[in-house]
Amino acid sequence: MNTVHTITQLRAAVARARQEGKRIGLVPTMGNLHDGHLALVQKALQSTDYVVVSIFVNPLQFGPSEDLDSYPRTLAADQSKLLDVGANLVFAPTPKEMYPDGMDGHTRISVPLVSEGLCGASRPGHFEGVATVVSKLLNMTQPDLAVFGKKDYQQLAVIRKMAQDLCMPVQIMGEAIVRDADGLALSSRNGFLTADQRQIAPRLYQVLVQIAEQIQGGRRDYPAVLDGARQHLIDAGMRPDYLELRDSVTLNPVGADSKQLIVLAAAFLGTTRLIDNLGFELN
Ligand code: PAF
Repeated sequence: MNTVHTITQLRAAVARARQEGKRIGLVPTMGNLHDGHLALVQKALQSTDYVVVSIFVNPLQFGPSEDLDSYPRTLAADQSKLLDVGANLVFAPTPKEMYPDGMDGHTRISVPLVSEGLCGASRPGHFEGVATVVSKLLNMTQPDLAVFGKKDYQQLAVIRKMAQDLCMPVQIMGEAIVRDADGLALSSRNGFLTADQRQIAPRLYQVLVQIAEQIQGGRRDYPAVLDGARQHLIDAGMRPDYLELRDSVTLNPVGADSKQLIVLAAAFLGTTRLIDNLGFELN
């Protein structure tokens, strides 16, 4: 497994693999890899022959008061995990390589509607930064398949819509959330939690499970169900950012005929913002 830092090197390595008749997979990440990321790589390895993992903490998707500076950068440990799992190439560019003329005048990709609300409401410009960097990575790599985690469910919807609208010749695949034994969704930001906060954090997932059970059990007073759940989060010591029920296919608010639902949440625990979601069906 090689690591390259420039777009020229990435393109040369991918071209060699293509000449050998290989199908190319891409797993875009911001590094600090955990088992959730490695599951994405394994998924890509099942469906393609040559898997590129990009590691780039993308400044364009962080707001001015967010955790860009403190976001963990652990390239050596990431390389060793990727070697173990069988990835073929690591692409770890610098910000200068990705944004040689800076970010201010850089072309942006904006994906309206699906980027609005949920994380888009509390992180203005975030999805524009994500869509822009992902489109760059897709253009640089030109993979057959790109795999993203479902923990960032809205992000996955934004990327799917972008790829569809811009006729990008790539299959976008979503992979299930990987959780710790107590239910907490794996996230690079979990490392920011204190030991006490780590004990509390699984409550987020527990609340999502309770909401799904109540609705599957017949409750249709959704606002009251969500209000009760919000209060549980507050009682546990969290500060809910959003807790919403949506149609899992369209991400639109739930309509009378929605059968596939998803409850999505973001909540602060101290200064750490956790997100999670749970999809379920109605009979
Ligand atoms: O999900 C992430 O880690 C990032 O948002 C992504 C998709 C790698 C773009 O920077």
